[in-house]
Amino acid sequence: MSECSGCASAAPDGSCSSESGCDKADEKLQKTLGRIRHKIVVMSGKGGVGKSTVAANIAVALSLAGKKVGLLDVDVHGPSIPRLLSLKGQKPHMGDHVMEPVPWSKNLSVMSLGFLLEDDKQAVIWRGPVKMGLIKQFVEDVMWGDLDFLIVDCPPGTGDEPLSTLQTLGPTAIAVIVTTPQGVAVDDVRRSVSFVGELGNRVLGIVENMSGFACPDCGAVHNIFNTGGGEELAREAGVRFLGRIPLDPEVSISGDEGFPFMKVHRDTATGKAMQQVIEPLLAFPD
Ligand SMILES: Nc1ncnc2c1ncn2[C@@H]1O[C@H](COP(=O)(O)OP(=O)(O)OP(=O)(O)O)[C@@H](O)[C@H]1O
Ligand SMILES: [Mg+2]
Ligand SMILES: [Zn+2]
Repeated sequence: MSECSGCASAAPDGSCSSESGCDKADEKLQKTLGRIRHKIVVMSGKGGVGKSTVAANIAVALSLAGKKVGLLDVDVHGPSIPRLLSLKGQKPHMGDHVMEPVPWSKNLSVMSLGFLLEDDKQAVIWRGPVKMGLIKQFVEDVMWGDLDFLIVDCPPGTGDEPLSTLQTLGPTAIAVIVTTPQGVAVDDVRRSVSFVGELGNRVLGIVENMSGFACPDCGAVHNIFNTGGGEELAREAGVRFLGRIPLDPEVSISGDEGFPFMKVHRDTATGKAMQQVIEPLLAFPD
C-alpha cells in the first residue's frame, strides 16, 4: 500500500490503514490533482452576478497569457460555459472511465455537464450525493493533463456544488468571490467568505462586477450607481479586493454570441478592468 497518497486513511508515511485497503478512486483523484498547479473556484452567494462570465474570461485571459488552463463548469442545473465559449453541441471523447475535455484553444480545455446533456431543455434533477459524485468525476475522470490553472465555475449559493468542489479539490483550492455593488449582497458575500473559511480554504479576493457603466458613446466608465460596496466588504472580511468590472453592454453581447470578451475587447476600459482582476493570478509562481 505504499502508493497511497490521498485516501482518508493514509498515514504520513504513505501507508494505508483503511480496512478495505487503499481507495483506488482517491489515488486517481490525487494523481489528477497533482498535475494541476493552481485551483481557482469562482463563486458567489448570489445568482446572476456574473460568475460564469468572470470565470470564462479569467480562463481565456490566462490562456492567452500562455498559461495551460482548464475550465470546469459545475453548474449542473444551468451550465452556461458551453454557450459563452461557442462550444455548444460539442461532445467530449469518451474512453474507459476517462473523458477528454473539449478544447477551446491549444491552451484552454473545457468540461461542462452541458456537453453530456442531449439538449438544452433536458431537465436535470440531481440529488445532493449524485452531484457530489459527479463533480469528483469531472475532476478525476477528465484527462486534464498538466495545468497551470483549473478554473471552476460554480452555481450560486453555498450548497452542494461549491461544497463538493472545494472538498474534491482539497485545501489548496482558492476561492474568488463575485459580487455586485448595489445594496451589496453583504450577507451573501459574508456567508460565502465564511463558508470557504470553514472548509479550510483561502479566499483570493472579491470581484465587484457590474460596477459603474462602460459608456458605448464616450468609452469612459460612468458611476451611475453606487460603487465600492465590494471593496468595503473585502476590507471588512479581511480579504483582498481584486477590482471592479463595469457593466458593459459588450460583455453581455459577446457572452450571448460566444466570443469571450477578453479575446475580442481586451483594449477597452472593461478589458483593462478584467485584466487587473487576473493580475494576482498571473503573479502566482509557475
Ligand atoms: N460586466 C458585465 N456587463 C454587462 N453584462 C454582464 C456583465 N457581467 C455579466 N453580465 C451579464 O449578466 C448575465 C448574468 O451573467 P452570468 O451568467 O455570468 O452570471 P452568473 O453569476 O454566472 O449567473 P448564475 O447565478 O445564473 O450562474 C449574463 O447575461 C451576462 O452576459
Ligand atoms: Mg453561472
Ligand atoms: Zn459617456
